[in-house]
Amino acid sequence: MSATTPELGSIPPGTVNLSDYTAHARARLDANAWAYFGGGAGDELTMQANRDAWDALRLHPRVLRSLTGGHTRSTLLGRMLEHPILLAPVAFQRLAHADGELGTAYAAAAQGAGLVLSTQASMPLEHIAQAVLPDPGRGPLWFQLYLQHDKGFTQALVQRAEQAGYEALVLTIDAPCSGARDRERRVDFQLPAGIGAVNLAGLSSRVPATLQAGQSAMFDDLLTMAPTWSDIEWLQGITRLPILLKGILHEDDARQARALGVSGLIVSNHGGRTLDTAVPTAWALPRIAQAVGHDLPLLVDGGIRRGTDVLKALALGADAVMIGRPYVHALATAGALGVAHVIRLLRDEFEIAMALTGCATLADITPAVLFQQP
Ligand code: FNR
Ligand code: LAC
Repeated sequence: MSATTPELGSIPPGTVNLSDYTAHARARLDANAWAYFGGGAGDELTMQANRDAWDALRLHPRVLRSLTGGHTRSTLLGRMLEHPILLAPVAFQRLAHADGELGTAYAAAAQGAGLVLSTQASMPLEHIAQAVLPDPGRGPLWFQLYLQHDKGFTQALVQRAEQAGYEALVLTIDAPCSGARDRERRVDFQLPAGIGAVNLAGLSSRVPATLQAGQSAMFDDLLTMAPTWSDIEWLQGITRLPILLKGILHEDDARQARALGVSGLIVSNHGGRTLDTAVPTAWALPRIAQAVGHDLPLLVDGGIRRGTDVLKALALGADAVMIGRPYVHALATAGALGVAHVIRLLRDEFEIAMALTGCATLADITPAVLFQQP
């Protein structure tokens, strides 16, 4: 395999939807990688509830409307989107496939999908940007940021992302510590040698605090570094890029973020990987849309697997959606080709859902497409 040309895998016969890729990935990945790419936190109740909440919404289609000239285009942060599907940041993709984030990035660009590269990507952020920035059909390219304990290092990382051509920062705020990942602990999850967070190379190791008897390793050490609202202002002061906050579930936090002047919000529970039993995103989204939706671009992720889920998310006030596990499962199955296929499948299903509910454009997708119980 060359380092710059993704290896074209092959799509297993009979693969017709996103869940099919999950079954393929489970069969292909070893127990260590599957615990990471398949799992969630605790009893995985939020991971499942994300899915159930989209499923529980029922559509109320309209018929006989003209759909001629319909399309899925929209504008997000001043940029045209061919369709409202982006790839969420997912760490360590070389654990899924040798082409890693590069394969994902080529596939996203080929399908006009936005891409958010993780701080914990397993390939250099500059390498990914160079590969896809020249593609005129690509979607937005954003960098997901985890604030590090070393502010100088974080600032340098932000500058690298700016210089490389990333168009926005996605600051993830719902993981000041890892969730209780039972699946990972059961298999003693380890990153294999040679796969790691290469963009964090050079970060000094955090010196653990000397704890007194009765002090907590969480509250008196790790969490003393956790980001707070004042760090959002710090970040705004060191970058010219728009900042989106990823991991908002409460409408009061959404209002506070708007007051600080952030450029967008991503309603997310990290795919159920942080706080188990946290509210499913389909429940949180309409409250946040009601609180700030007209003023701020809103995205949502968590359990989006069907074109009808995309339609429902837009009906509840999202401007766009992100998917996480489905595309990494496709990467593990068939490399870049699998990722491109997943995006195309979801977009095709979304167009079908629009047509069958009588929506020619995204502007036609209103709460009225959702059945309201009398
Ligand atoms: C993630 N997610 C994530 N989020 C983030 O902000 N930075 C990261 O590095 C990662 N890494 C990561 C790894 C893996 C294996 C998964 C599954 C998820 C969360 C991700 O961006 C997104 O919020 C969820 O994956 C969305 O839910 P679905 O589509 O996976 O159900
Ligand atoms: C995860 C971290 C990397 O969900 O965000 O695994």
